[in-house]
Amino acid sequence: MAQAKRERAAGAAASAAADTSFLTDVATLRERARQHIGEGAVTSTYTLPTETVVKVLNDALATEIVCVLRYKRHYFMAEGIHAESVKAEFLEHANEEQSHADRIAERIVQLGGEPDLAPDGLASRSHSQYVAGETLREMVVEDLVAERIAIDSYREIVQWLGDRDPTTRKMMEEILASEEEHADDLVSLLEGMPKDEGRGHG
Ligand SMILES: [Fe+2]
Ligand SMILES: [Fe+2]
Repeated sequence: MAQAKRERAAGAAASAAADTSFLTDVATLRERARQHIGEGAVTSTYTLPTETVVKVLNDALATEIVCVLRYKRHYFMAEGIHAESVKAEFLEHANEEQSHADRIAERIVQLGGEPDLAPDGLASRSHSQYVAGETLREMVVEDLVAERIAIDSYREIVQWLGDRDPTTRKMMEEILASEEEHADDLVSLLEGMPKDEGRGHG
């Protein structure tokens, strides 16, 4: 009968939809969660070596701090006819780099590590460099170079994390997207700037 056939088909579809065998059963989940509770967010299905993730994140943290310092320097030193809009951009970027640094530091702690904020070695841990820059144009160029370095290294970090740590990956993807916006802003600033315009204090 057509009706019975329809009912059987609907029943099969419902049980296929309810197939959650890819999930660990509740009893095992509960049991596992009770082991090593001191490890907090790092549970037994976390397969990455946390020390390596913490090291990678600390290098990214150093990169962010160096970026904050460089943008702050450029913000205070920018002078010239185009300086006002550029200054505003430098300050906005400095604040955003600081919020990236804070997010990374927080994640390091969640993973059981410690954020390395020691000034010694900060510049060598950082992927990008601190370049003071003489003219406004040089500052923007140096910032653009630094953003492009961060973009490359963050993209690599995202790829390395893959699906083994979706939380850290999502954070790094969001930070990566923000660095891409920064690079785009800087290109726009450069385009609106004559080659010899704008000087810093030196
Ligand atoms: Fe950043
Ligand atoms: Fe940036």
